[in-house]
Order: sequence, then C-alpha cells, then structure tokens
Amino acid sequence: MLARSWAQKEFRGKRRELTVLHRPSDGGRLVLVGLGPRAKYSAEVARRAAAEAVKGLRGKAAPRVGFALPSFVAGGVDAERALRAIADGAVLGGYEFYQYKATFEAGVEEATIYLGAAARSRGASLRRALDEERTIAEATVWTRERANLPPNVAFPERIAEEARRLGTELGLKVTVFDEAALAKMGCGGILAVGSGSSHPPRMIVLEYAGRGRGRGPPRTVALVGKGITFDSGGISIKPAPQMSHMKFDKSGAMAVLGTVRAAALLKVAPRVVGILCCCENLPSGSSYRPGDLVRTFSGKIIEVLNTDAEGRVALSDGLGYADATYQPDAVIDVATLTGGEVVALGDDTGGLVSNDDPLARALLAASAATGEPIWRMPLTDYHRELVRSEVGDVRNSIEIPTAAMLTASAFLEAFVGDRRWAHLDIAGPAYTTLSTRKYQPAYQNWGATAFGVRLLTRYLLDAGP
Ligand code: BES
Ligand code: MN
Ligand code: ZN
Repeated sequence: MLARSWAQKEFRGKRRELTVLHRPSDGGRLVLVGLGPRAKYSAEVARRAAAEAVKGLRGKAAPRVGFALPSFVAGGVDAERALRAIADGAVLGGYEFYQYKATFEAGVEEATIYLGAAARSRGASLRRALDEERTIAEATVWTRERANLPPNVAFPERIAEEARRLGTELGLKVTVFDEAALAKMGCGGILAVGSGSSHPPRMIVLEYAGRGRGRGPPRTVALVGKGITFDSGGISIKPAPQMSHMKFDKSGAMAVLGTVRAAALLKVAPRVVGILCCCENLPSGSSYRPGDLVRTFSGKIIEVLNTDAEGRVALSDGLGYADATYQPDAVIDVATLTGGEVVALGDDTGGLVSNDDPLARALLAASAATGEPIWRMPLTDYHRELVRSEVGDVRNSIEIPTAAMLTASAFLEAFVGDRRWAHLDIAGPAYTTLSTRKYQPAYQNWGATAFGVRLLTRYLLDAGP
C-alpha cells in the first residue's frame, strides 16, 4: 500500500503533508506524515510532524496512535533525539484549552513509540529519556492550561492558591506575601502596579531544595516571573484592539511555576527558587500614576512615567528580593515585557539579555536543544543612561521610542545587584493569536504556549556544577 501510494503520488513526503491509508483486511489506519527534504530534516521537523499527526487525528475516533521510531531517525537526528521530539509533538500537539467549552472533539489519548530492531538494544536509556521528556512536555501543557485562564479567574490570589497546591503536591516550600507583608517589606513596585485593582497583589516564592551534585551545597538558581494577570496599561491606558491579549501578561510567572514543577519532578541538581510577581494593572481612583515616585525593596526609587511599563516596576521587587534573600548563583527573569521585543524578533523568538557570557551560552544551548528559539541582544551604557531618572534612580519609560526591549533590560539590571543575570523577554512567543496561529508549528495551539518551560528545564537539567 505504501509503495503504491508513493508511486501514484498520493503521498509525496512534503512537510505538513498528512495522508491516511486504510488496511483492507481490518480497516486499521496507517497515518503518513511528511518530513520534507532529507537535507533539511531536524528534531524540530520531527516535533512538528508528530504534532501534525496528533492534531490531524482529533475528532477522528483515534484515541490511540503508534509512532514508528525508525522512520524518524535520519541525518543528525538519532534515536534519542527523535524519541524526544515525538514525545514533545504528541503531548504538546494534543493540547487544547477546552475547560470552558460545553462540547469538544476527543483527540488522541495515548501515544506509543515503537523502537524498532535497531534501537531496541538501547531500550533502557531510551525509556529514561522518554520519561524525562514526557515530564517536561506535560509540565508545558500544565503551564498552558494555567496561562490560558481568563483574568476574571486567574487573579493574584488564585495564582497563590495554585502555587500552594503545587507545593503540597511536590513537597516544596511556598511563601505568599500579601499586600500587608509587601508593605512591611518595602515592595513598593508590586504594590504600585496592583494599586488600581480590587484584586490585591501577591509575591509568591516557591523553593525546591535541589538534589546537589557530589560534595557541597547545590547551586541556587532564582527564576523571577512577570505575573500581570491583566495589563490594561493602567492610567496610561492601552487602545481597545487586542487588549484582551493582555491576559497573557502573566505568562512569565506561569512559565516559572511550570519550570519549578518540572524541576522538582525531575529532581534537578540546583536549588531552584521561583518568584512570581503577581498584580493586575487597572485604571481607577487608587491607581498609581505617571509622575509617581516609588520606593522598591532594594531601596532604589523608580520614577513612573508610564503606567503601562508596569512589568519592570513589579519585577524590581522580585529581583531585589532574590538578590538579598537567596544570594543566587544565577538569576533568570522571564517576562512578556515589551512590544519592542515582538517588533524586533517576531512571534516565535524570545529576546535574551545577560550580563554573563557563560550563563547566556548555557541558555542558548538549552534553547538549541529544545527548539524554543531565543536570540541574544546587546545591553550597553547607552541603554543604562536612557533609563536614568532626574528625580529618582531609574525611570520606567523614556521619551524616544527606541530599543524598548533594551531600555527595559537596563532598568531591570539596576535591581539584580552583582548577580549573574539573564532576562528573557517572551512578549512575542508567549502566546499565539488567530492571526499568527497559522504560521506557528503544530505543537502550539490557540493561546498560551508556555514558552520558556522547556528551555529553562533543560538549562536546569544541564546546568554545570
Ligand atoms: N505587557 C506589555 C508588553 C507586551 C506587548 C506583551 C505586546 C505582549 C505583547 C508591557 O507591559 C507594555 O505595555 N510595554 C510597553 C512599554 C512602554 C509603555 C514603555 C510597550 O512595550 O509598548
Ligand atoms: Mn504594560
Ligand atoms: Zn505588561
């Protein structure tokens, strides 16, 4: 049947090509998915193809699907890389946000990967790789499910409840700072951003202790996430079109939550501290305003010039708190921070800014391994000068519309002390929309992508001693 469908050009193996053959004897179905030209084949192609197969089977009464591993092994994609790509594609491609729908079409519930004779001798190590990859992919859809929640449901207190549930499930230490605690600590940034909303802000801290490596205490990696549960812009209000996308402005915090989940399940070596800066940015009589001067946890004063540049204001406290409380070996913040990031790098790629070359290289390596693309951008004294304030220490917006991703980075850098630090601006890749959706790989779906979970978990798994 295969030979005939090939000869009759029923199936040509092109990318995104999907053909179903029916076995005459019993009606069993064989799904053919195109992988494109051999010379361009990669793990990313396999990841997409596996997702295309699973997506294509939704609504077709196909609860179980088997993947033949050998047909995904070619070129630089060995059995383990192919296996991981199939696991990613099957789990991520099968995800849809349907908890608010009365009806939905059932999809694939179970995928089996058949190793084939050549890979069978490596069965044990392949099974370990599969367990790890499945955990990461499942943490990714777990994160999508939460990042997709609407802003009338996922306000800061609800995210705190979710974090507490995760802590109970996995035995993590979870601390939630409410508005009274934040005031006592001097976290004026988070309080200012949240001041216009009837949902009070929360700073949520999760600690996974770390398995360690050999002698000595484990290294500490602090992950700080922007958790704006809705960003209207505040008094500097955004225009109406697409404002609803700003429910995804909590994606950085959700990526941190999902990464902590994966890190704890996989028992990574470093200690991981996740810090979620959660508030809702709304205009009201109690909102913070352009012109306000705000004292942050670190003691530095922010001059607020635009209440829509709120992410950096909220993160200032999380970064300062991470630095002072945990003396982390590395600090990585994740944030849907600037529209400039989307303009510069598009919908698929995150922006990376770092003050430390080895840390940046490790993150780029994790990005290459997982297929979550990031690109390093420069941070110079020019950007630092642009965010200097005449009346406070830093200002949250500038008068000229240039290098928004980088002036935002210069602002954040003012709060990281002497730590090795990396910033991931995920404004572009954090979510897909109706207009961008058709260009994105099949392992994405409408809405939140949980961008960052796979790459950060990989970083934590591979992080040096
Ligand atoms: N949450 C937005 C950034 C954003 C834009 C995320 C598009 C995802 C898609 C952020 O809070 C914001 O409003 N940034 C402003 C800053 C400006 C007012 C200095 C921006 O980038 O336009
Ligand atoms: Mn904003
Ligand atoms: Zn925002």
